[in-house]
Amino acid sequence: MGGPGVDGREHRLRTQADAAFIRGWLRNPLKIGAVSPSSRALARRMAEAVPAEPSDGIVVELGPGTGVVTAGLLEAGIAPENLVCLEYQPEFCTLLRARFPRVHVLQGDAYEPPPALAGFLRERRLRAVVSSLPLMTKPEPERVRAVAGYLDLLPPGAPFIQFSYALSAPVRATLVDADVAVSPWIKRNLPPARVITYRRNEASPSAGGLPAFVAVPR
Ligand SMILES: C[S@@+](CC[C@H](N)C(=O)[O-])C[C@H]1O[C@@H](n2cnc3c(N)ncnc32)[C@H](O)[C@@H]1O
Repeated sequence: MGGPGVDGREHRLRTQADAAFIRGWLRNPLKIGAVSPSSRALARRMAEAVPAEPSDGIVVELGPGTGVVTAGLLEAGIAPENLVCLEYQPEFCTLLRARFPRVHVLQGDAYEPPPALAGFLRERRLRAVVSSLPLMTKPEPERVRAVAGYLDLLPPGAPFIQFSYALSAPVRATLVDADVAVSPWIKRNLPPARVITYRRNEASPSAGGLPAFVAVPR
Protein backbone atom coordinates (compact mmCIF):
# COMPACT_ATOMS: atom_id res chain seq x y z
CA MET A 1 0.00 0.00 0.00
CA GLY A 2 1.47 3.35 -0.98
CA GLY A 3 0.73 6.28 1.38
CA PRO A 4 1.28 9.93 0.92
CA GLY A 5 4.93 10.58 0.20
CA VAL A 6 5.74 7.12 -1.20
CA ASP A 7 5.40 8.22 -4.85
CA GLY A 8 7.43 11.35 -4.09
CA ARG A 9 10.17 9.25 -2.49
CA GLU A 10 10.24 6.86 -5.47
CA HIS A 11 10.36 9.81 -7.88
CA ARG A 12 13.28 11.33 -5.93
CA LEU A 13 15.14 8.01 -5.91
CA ARG A 14 14.58 7.56 -9.66
CA THR A 15 15.92 11.04 -10.35
CA GLN A 16 18.96 10.26 -8.18
CA ALA A 17 19.28 6.98 -10.09
CA ASP A 18 19.39 8.73 -13.48
CA ALA A 19 22.04 11.17 -12.23
CA ALA A 20 24.07 8.29 -10.73
CA PHE A 21 23.89 6.38 -14.03
CA ILE A 22 25.35 9.34 -15.94
CA ARG A 23 28.09 9.82 -13.29
CA GLY A 24 28.89 6.08 -13.46
CA TRP A 25 29.13 6.21 -17.25
CA LEU A 26 31.41 9.26 -17.15
CA ARG A 27 33.69 7.48 -14.66
CA ASN A 28 33.78 4.09 -16.32
CA PRO A 29 32.05 3.83 -19.72
CA LEU A 30 33.31 0.29 -20.41
CA LYS A 31 31.89 -1.05 -17.13
CA ILE A 32 28.52 0.59 -17.72
CA GLY A 33 28.40 -0.20 -21.44
CA ALA A 34 25.27 1.88 -22.16
CA VAL A 35 24.61 5.58 -22.42
CA SER A 36 21.27 5.47 -20.66
CA PRO A 37 19.39 3.08 -18.37
CA SER A 38 17.23 0.40 -20.01
CA SER A 39 13.62 1.26 -20.82
CA ARG A 40 10.72 -0.22 -18.88
CA ALA A 41 9.71 -2.07 -22.07
CA LEU A 42 13.05 -3.88 -22.12
CA ALA A 43 12.84 -4.54 -18.37
CA ARG A 44 9.39 -6.11 -18.87
CA ARG A 45 10.69 -8.39 -21.64
CA MET A 46 13.57 -9.54 -19.40
CA ALA A 47 11.13 -10.26 -16.57
CA GLU A 48 8.77 -12.20 -18.88
CA ALA A 49 11.59 -14.63 -19.63
CA VAL A 50 11.85 -15.68 -15.96
CA PRO A 51 9.95 -18.97 -15.53
CA ALA A 52 7.09 -19.11 -13.03
CA GLU A 53 8.60 -22.09 -11.21
CA PRO A 54 10.04 -22.70 -8.73
CA SER A 55 8.20 -19.67 -7.37
CA ASP A 56 10.40 -19.63 -4.25
CA GLY A 57 13.60 -20.09 -6.28
CA ILE A 58 16.33 -17.48 -6.32
CA VAL A 59 16.56 -15.03 -9.22
CA VAL A 60 20.05 -13.55 -9.60
CA GLU A 61 20.34 -10.20 -11.35
CA LEU A 62 23.79 -9.28 -12.69
CA GLY A 63 24.61 -5.60 -13.30
CA PRO A 64 21.35 -4.10 -11.98
CA GLY A 65 22.78 -0.58 -12.19
CA THR A 66 20.18 1.84 -10.90
CA GLY A 67 17.40 -0.75 -10.83
CA VAL A 68 15.25 -0.48 -13.97
CA VAL A 69 15.28 -4.24 -14.54
CA THR A 70 15.06 -4.88 -10.79
CA ALA A 71 11.81 -2.88 -10.72
CA GLY A 72 10.55 -4.88 -13.73
CA LEU A 73 11.29 -8.16 -11.96
CA LEU A 74 9.46 -7.04 -8.82
CA GLU A 75 6.49 -5.76 -10.89
CA ALA A 76 6.34 -9.19 -12.55
CA GLY A 77 5.72 -10.70 -9.12
CA ILE A 78 9.16 -11.93 -8.07
CA ALA A 79 9.34 -11.61 -4.30
CA PRO A 80 12.09 -9.20 -3.18
CA GLU A 81 13.40 -11.81 -0.73
CA ASN A 82 14.01 -14.13 -3.70
CA LEU A 83 15.97 -11.57 -5.69
CA VAL A 84 19.76 -11.29 -5.34
CA CYS A 85 21.41 -8.40 -7.18
CA LEU A 86 25.14 -8.43 -7.89
CA GLU A 87 26.48 -5.00 -8.84
CA TYR A 88 30.07 -3.79 -9.17
CA GLN A 89 29.65 -0.05 -8.54
CA PRO A 90 29.28 0.78 -4.82
CA GLU A 91 27.26 3.93 -5.59
CA PHE A 92 24.65 1.87 -7.46
CA CYS A 93 24.54 -0.61 -4.56
CA THR A 94 23.73 2.21 -2.14
CA LEU A 95 20.94 3.41 -4.44
CA LEU A 96 19.53 -0.07 -4.95
CA ARG A 97 19.41 -0.67 -1.18
CA ALA A 98 17.50 2.60 -0.73
CA ARG A 99 15.07 1.85 -3.58
CA PHE A 100 14.52 -1.83 -2.79
CA PRO A 101 15.20 -2.41 0.92
CA ARG A 102 13.99 -6.04 0.87
CA VAL A 103 16.08 -7.10 -2.14
CA HIS A 104 19.49 -8.68 -1.41
CA VAL A 105 22.14 -6.41 -2.90
CA LEU A 106 25.71 -7.75 -3.13
CA GLN A 107 28.62 -5.59 -4.22
CA GLY A 108 31.09 -7.53 -6.34
CA ASP A 109 32.34 -8.68 -9.71
CA ALA A 110 29.94 -10.89 -11.64
CA TYR A 111 32.92 -12.48 -13.41
CA GLU A 112 34.26 -13.63 -10.00
CA PRO A 113 31.05 -14.21 -8.04
CA PRO A 114 31.41 -13.47 -4.30
CA PRO A 115 31.06 -16.33 -1.77
CA ALA A 116 27.84 -14.73 -0.46
CA LEU A 117 26.16 -15.67 -3.74
CA ALA A 118 27.10 -19.32 -3.27
CA GLY A 119 25.59 -19.04 0.23
CA PHE A 120 22.14 -18.23 -1.21
CA LEU A 121 22.39 -21.05 -3.72
CA ARG A 122 23.37 -23.63 -1.11
CA GLU A 123 19.96 -23.22 0.48
CA ARG A 124 17.71 -22.53 -2.50
CA ARG A 125 17.23 -23.54 -6.12
CA LEU A 126 18.17 -21.06 -8.79
CA ARG A 127 15.21 -19.97 -10.94
CA ALA A 128 16.96 -17.71 -13.48
CA VAL A 129 19.94 -15.43 -13.98
CA VAL A 130 19.02 -12.05 -15.47
CA SER A 131 22.02 -10.18 -16.83
CA SER A 132 22.53 -6.62 -18.03
CA LEU A 133 26.32 -7.05 -18.03
CA PRO A 134 28.01 -5.27 -20.95
CA LEU A 135 29.41 -8.63 -22.11
CA MET A 136 30.70 -7.27 -25.41
CA THR A 137 33.26 -5.10 -23.61
CA LYS A 138 35.05 -8.33 -22.58
CA PRO A 139 37.10 -10.68 -24.77
CA GLU A 140 35.23 -13.77 -25.96
CA PRO A 141 36.95 -16.27 -23.59
CA GLU A 142 35.86 -14.19 -20.57
CA ARG A 143 32.29 -13.91 -21.86
CA VAL A 144 32.14 -17.65 -22.45
CA ARG A 145 33.60 -18.44 -19.02
CA ALA A 146 31.04 -16.18 -17.31
CA VAL A 147 27.95 -17.44 -19.15
CA ALA A 148 29.05 -21.09 -18.91
CA GLY A 149 29.73 -20.65 -15.19
CA TYR A 150 26.19 -19.39 -14.52
CA LEU A 151 24.68 -22.09 -16.76
CA ASP A 152 26.54 -24.66 -14.62
CA LEU A 153 24.68 -23.30 -11.58
CA LEU A 154 21.24 -23.29 -13.23
CA PRO A 155 19.01 -26.39 -13.11
CA PRO A 156 18.20 -28.04 -16.48
CA GLY A 157 16.01 -25.79 -18.66
CA ALA A 158 16.34 -22.71 -16.42
CA PRO A 159 17.43 -19.62 -18.37
CA PHE A 160 20.39 -17.27 -18.37
CA ILE A 161 18.70 -14.11 -19.70
CA GLN A 162 20.78 -11.37 -21.31
CA PHE A 163 19.94 -8.25 -23.24
CA SER A 164 22.06 -7.15 -26.15
CA TYR A 165 22.24 -4.36 -28.70
CA ALA A 166 24.36 -6.50 -31.04
CA LEU A 167 23.17 -8.25 -34.21
CA SER A 168 24.53 -11.59 -33.06
CA ALA A 169 24.35 -13.26 -29.65
CA PRO A 170 27.16 -12.06 -27.33
CA VAL A 171 28.16 -15.69 -26.71
CA ARG A 172 27.75 -18.37 -29.37
CA ALA A 173 25.49 -21.23 -28.33
CA THR A 174 27.96 -23.96 -29.22
CA LEU A 175 30.66 -22.41 -27.00
CA VAL A 176 28.50 -22.80 -23.90
CA ASP A 177 26.63 -25.93 -25.01
CA ALA A 178 23.24 -24.24 -24.71
CA ASP A 179 20.07 -23.62 -26.71
CA VAL A 180 19.56 -19.97 -27.57
CA ALA A 181 16.35 -18.04 -28.28
CA VAL A 182 15.97 -14.36 -29.13
CA SER A 183 13.11 -11.90 -28.70
CA PRO A 184 12.05 -9.46 -31.41
CA TRP A 185 13.87 -6.11 -31.31
CA ILE A 186 12.55 -3.90 -28.54
CA LYS A 187 12.38 -0.55 -30.29
CA ARG A 188 11.27 1.35 -27.21
CA ASN A 189 14.82 1.30 -25.90
CA LEU A 190 17.82 3.46 -26.73
CA PRO A 191 19.43 1.84 -28.67
CA PRO A 192 16.96 -0.92 -29.64
CA ALA A 193 17.83 -4.20 -27.93
CA ARG A 194 16.88 -7.87 -27.90
CA VAL A 195 16.52 -10.32 -25.05
CA ILE A 196 18.48 -13.54 -25.46
CA THR A 197 17.97 -16.69 -23.42
CA TYR A 198 20.48 -19.50 -22.96
CA ARG A 199 19.27 -22.85 -21.60
CA ARG A 200 20.86 -26.24 -21.19
CA ASN A 201 19.35 -29.69 -21.14
CA GLU A 202 15.82 -28.68 -22.01
CA ALA A 203 13.61 -31.72 -22.53
CA SER A 204 12.62 -30.45 -25.99
CA PRO A 205 14.81 -27.55 -27.09
CA SER A 206 12.59 -24.66 -28.13
CA ALA A 207 12.30 -20.99 -27.35
CA GLY A 208 11.44 -22.03 -23.81
CA GLY A 209 7.74 -21.52 -24.46
CA LEU A 210 8.15 -17.76 -24.65
CA PRO A 211 5.75 -16.01 -27.01
CA ALA A 212 7.53 -14.26 -29.89
CA PHE A 213 10.97 -15.64 -28.98
CA VAL A 214 12.63 -17.53 -31.82
CA ALA A 215 14.99 -20.45 -31.26
CA VAL A 216 18.36 -19.93 -32.95
CA PRO A 217 19.74 -23.05 -34.68
CA ARG A 218 23.11 -24.09 -33.19
C1 LIG B 1 24.39 -1.56 -19.23
S1 LIG B 1 24.40 -1.19 -17.49
C2 LIG B 1 22.79 -1.84 -17.14
C3 LIG B 1 22.15 -1.25 -15.93
C4 LIG B 1 20.69 -1.60 -15.71
N1 LIG B 1 20.48 -3.01 -15.46
C5 LIG B 1 19.87 -1.20 -16.91
O1 LIG B 1 19.46 -2.11 -17.64
O2 LIG B 1 19.68 0.00 -17.08
C6 LIG B 1 25.52 -2.40 -16.90
C7 LIG B 1 25.61 -2.57 -15.41
O3 LIG B 1 26.48 -3.66 -15.13
C8 LIG B 1 27.36 -3.30 -14.07
N2 LIG B 1 28.59 -4.11 -14.21
C9 LIG B 1 29.50 -4.04 -15.20
N3 LIG B 1 30.46 -4.96 -15.01
C10 LIG B 1 30.12 -5.64 -13.89
C11 LIG B 1 30.72 -6.71 -13.19
N4 LIG B 1 31.86 -7.27 -13.61
N5 LIG B 1 30.09 -7.18 -12.09
C12 LIG B 1 28.93 -6.62 -11.66
N6 LIG B 1 28.33 -5.59 -12.27
C13 LIG B 1 28.91 -5.10 -13.38
C14 LIG B 1 27.61 -1.82 -14.30
O4 LIG B 1 28.10 -1.19 -13.13
C15 LIG B 1 26.20 -1.37 -14.70
O5 LIG B 1 25.44 -1.11 -13.56
